[in-house]
Amino acid sequence: MNDPEIPANEVTPESVFLRRRFFMKASIWAGSTLATAGLYRAFSPRSDVKNTGAAISTIPETMPQIPLGANDKPNTFSEIAGYNNYYEFSTDKYEVAAKARNFVTNHWSLEVGGLVQKPRTFGLEDLLKMDAIERTYRFRCVEGWSMVIPWVGFPLSRLLAMVEPMSQATHVAFETYYDIKQMPESPYAGIDLPYVEGLRLDEAMHPLTLMATGLYGKTLPNQNGAPVRLVVPWKYGFKSIKSVVKITLTDRQPPTTWNLAGPEEYGFYSNVNPTVNHPRWSQARERRIGEGGMRETLMFNGYAEQVAHLYAGMDLRRNF
Ligand code: MTE
Repeated sequence: MNDPEIPANEVTPESVFLRRRFFMKASIWAGSTLATAGLYRAFSPRSDVKNTGAAISTIPETMPQIPLGANDKPNTFSEIAGYNNYYEFSTDKYEVAAKARNFVTNHWSLEVGGLVQKPRTFGLEDLLKMDAIERTYRFRCVEGWSMVIPWVGFPLSRLLAMVEPMSQATHVAFETYYDIKQMPESPYAGIDLPYVEGLRLDEAMHPLTLMATGLYGKTLPNQNGAPVRLVVPWKYGFKSIKSVVKITLTDRQPPTTWNLAGPEEYGFYSNVNPTVNHPRWSQARERRIGEGGMRETLMFNGYAEQVAHLYAGMDLRRNF
């Protein structure tokens, strides 16, 4: 239930937002492996979740307009950076921001190799120098909540083109940084670490697939996957792996963290699909963070026009 004084669908200035306390429904999926919150958990944005990142300069977008509905207002910075899944730091979405606060990400390097002609290690400066664009995407978590996030980043295809994939490469594997000293709660994450993810090469090369280096015009907060994370807007959120240190081109489907943890529940593809339920809950509807009630989940999270052709002829029930 939202604050009755302020309609949920109104754009809320940050200052007003921070003065509000409101309650909203936690998931209908309580009991899932991913779930941590109970029903009707209080959502009180932390006032210490401020956008302290450095400004990132962006260039004009060259892609045609990406469809966002009239009712798809970007979530506030506090919502995006105050409610996170980053199991290496905490399994409590409200705690991740505080627990990731001291995560050291300078001197970062991202190694890109495997079946490529020109393997290369990118430093953080290289990544921040890539011409960045701004893209506001819907983001749908497999647990049933969603947000609208104004990312800053660059298409993954640009990075892959620089290393020249070999013709045998069919898939791309990703790996998150892992250091138990920096992530002391990680032994309680309940998943094998480092966190790994994968895409088919054509999915990785799709122009919607981003490597995000920021949000709201500034560098990424630690809790959102600093300094660089994947964003695949038509897939459930767990595909969008955070704090990537390694990208490997390969000729086979790579293992992925949630598929390893629950192969019956989390498939390799994990495309947002309201017609294919998770074994333990429906995926037909979602709760937009900051909003009361539920809304319909869209096929491919609303990006069907752009990506449906990637799955032509595939049985999406089997390839969930
Ligand atoms: N990446 C890593 N390394 N560890 C994680 O726990 N959680 C995933 C994904 N990427 C996760 C991760 C899940 S389940 C979701 S929904 C999104 O990150 C959440 O991203 P956000 O916190 O920026 O909204």
